[in-house]
Amino acid sequence: MKIPDDIRRDIPLTGEVIYFDNTATSLTPRPVIEAMDEYYLKYRANVHRGVHRLSQMATQKYEESRKIVADFIGAKFEEIVFTKNTSESLNLAALGLEGVFRKGDRIVTTPYEHHSDLLPWQRLAEKLGLKLEFIKGDDEGNLDLADAEKKIKGAKLVAIQHVSNALGVIHEVEELGKMAKEEGAIFVVDAAQSVGHMEVDVNRLHADFLAFSGHKGPLGPTGIGVLYIREEFFDVFEPPFIGGGTIEDVELCCYTLTEPPERFEAGTPNIGGAIGLAAGIEYIQKIGLERIEKQEHRLVKRTTGGLTELEVPWYGPRNLKKHAGVVSFNVPPLHPHDVAAVLDDHNIMVRSGHHCALPVMKKLGINGTVRASFHVYNSLDEVETFLGVMEELVKSLR
Ligand SMILES: Cc1ncc(COP(=O)(O)O)c(C=O)c1O
Repeated sequence: MKIPDDIRRDIPLTGEVIYFDNTATSLTPRPVIEAMDEYYLKYRANVHRGVHRLSQMATQKYEESRKIVADFIGAKFEEIVFTKNTSESLNLAALGLEGVFRKGDRIVTTPYEHHSDLLPWQRLAEKLGLKLEFIKGDDEGNLDLADAEKKIKGAKLVAIQHVSNALGVIHEVEELGKMAKEEGAIFVVDAAQSVGHMEVDVNRLHADFLAFSGHKGPLGPTGIGVLYIREEFFDVFEPPFIGGGTIEDVELCCYTLTEPPERFEAGTPNIGGAIGLAAGIEYIQKIGLERIEKQEHRLVKRTTGGLTELEVPWYGPRNLKKHAGVVSFNVPPLHPHDVAAVLDDHNIMVRSGHHCALPVMKKLGINGTVRASFHVYNSLDEVETFLGVMEELVKSLR
């Protein structure tokens, strides 16, 4: 089925607006809203603490959600830590790994990272006297794999995004993970823009740590994210936050931490959020990742083709096999915000600005882009409407 009508029926707002801001956050399917409603209406209680049946039920559903997340990315149950979002997950990874570094160790990343996969490593490097190095790449976002191999040699940690939210490029994380493993480097993947859009398997990617948000690809709510921590790191990973729920025993002088994953989740978690995230993942599984990828590819092909015909410069790889469902473009001499405002006047929601990737904008010598980003519920008809508005806009400038 080409037109995703069956899916659109489940997603409030799809009939009312053209929502092309899925990279920022996605719309929420009814089954996700219902799963969270059920928690708040029928078994609203805290987890892990109570003997009463509501708490038992909440604990069961919360832990079942962890299992659904684990299975979805090929992880073990205890390797899944619930957080607030990708940013918190990556900060948690950087803080928890402080103890493994020695002065002068190298962290390798790319110039295309979202600030959330750059700032935590910059701060760590400054604090511990580490060296931060960047794999070379071109203006489309393609990485130079020979340079990657050179830089990864002897590195302590490699942190790479799977998909760029600014350029849409899909990076070769599997190959880079293999290089990192061969060098004994810790491999961290920012999967904020890939989970829920394409297959992500922590073992296939050789990931030791992998971060993502519930509210993007997985169609879950805001306020819930995941940090995958490979079991081998349980002993060296020092939880930055401790307290309620993280202990085996406590004396006035000291404490013993409990086993993962509880060891890494201090305090009351986002229970409804975890349940909503699991419902989002189940919804994605029902649709199938293959269909999602195909639909997004179709939309990207038509969008980039249409923009090319209109001579509107767009960014990211020309090889569309490497281009995820994110199309960044500009309409000179207009500012990206002005283009987004025009599109909003036509009921089309896009993002504009630097997309929390200022080094990418600086590399390209631009102040920002307009970004149309898709999920499976977006249709070709919507893209045609968008291209129609773009045509009018471009004509008005000539
Ligand atoms: C590649 C990438 N990493 C990290 C993030 C941060 O995600 P969040 O705002 O959910 O923490 C984003 C958000 O757009 C992203 O695109």
